[in-house]
Amino acid sequence: MLTTARTLGTCLRRALGVRCLQTAPALQHEAVFNHRDTPEDNPDIPFDFTPENHKRAEAILAIYPEGHKRAAMIPLLDLAQRQHGWLPISAMHKVAEILDLPRMRVYEVATFYTMFMRKPTGKYHLQVCTTTPCWLRGSDEILETCKAKLNLEVGETSSDGMFTISEVECLGACVNAPMIQVNDDYYEDLTVQDTEQILNDLKNNKKPKPGPRNGRFAAEPIGEPTSLAGEPPGPGFGVRADL
Ligand code: FES
Repeated sequence: MLTTARTLGTCLRRALGVRCLQTAPALQHEAVFNHRDTPEDNPDIPFDFTPENHKRAEAILAIYPEGHKRAAMIPLLDLAQRQHGWLPISAMHKVAEILDLPRMRVYEVATFYTMFMRKPTGKYHLQVCTTTPCWLRGSDEILETCKAKLNLEVGETSSDGMFTISEVECLGACVNAPMIQVNDDYYEDLTVQDTEQILNDLKNNKKPKPGPRNGRFAAEPIGEPTSLAGEPPGPGFGVRADL
């Protein structure tokens, strides 16, 4: 239907000799990019940092020179999110107040980065990477396992407030694909069984050991090195017979 409408629109513009800007439909994402007041998220609910986090906020601000304090916005938003579990609008207002900025400047940042959760989020935030390397290595099965085991769809939070599932783009651990991030930890080189084990541990409030699940320490090859295994040849190697 949409394609037909576009094709008709293109024909019409050609017939009229009119050139138009190309547009694309907005991508759908479970993150909240606009704000609507709700009982749990509205500007009348007060937010302030705890005394410990006030000290942390001061330490963060001290990193940045006078005139550049706004660079502390992301760390401060992150601090607010860690304190509250997600980022309500009152926390954004607090950050704007601390940085002496218009609230809009904070809204722009908080709604751009998907690391900021704009709605109540589970104690364990499962971010399943489904970008190409993870997808080629079976991320579809990993995501399905999370959904089935928790009885949740992507973007949903369990009624007990324990789990939220997000589908995310590359988390920079492609060499250990497929992988998921749970809060601050990466779980890598996953199979379906590994994923089930991780979820079982989390359900029992046990912290599974982060990192690769296939015996690797980090991102080294399994078994012997497959490249850079010998002494590197010197300059001019293969070009001059005397080298
Ligand atoms: S594609 Fe999944 S971490 Fe890069």
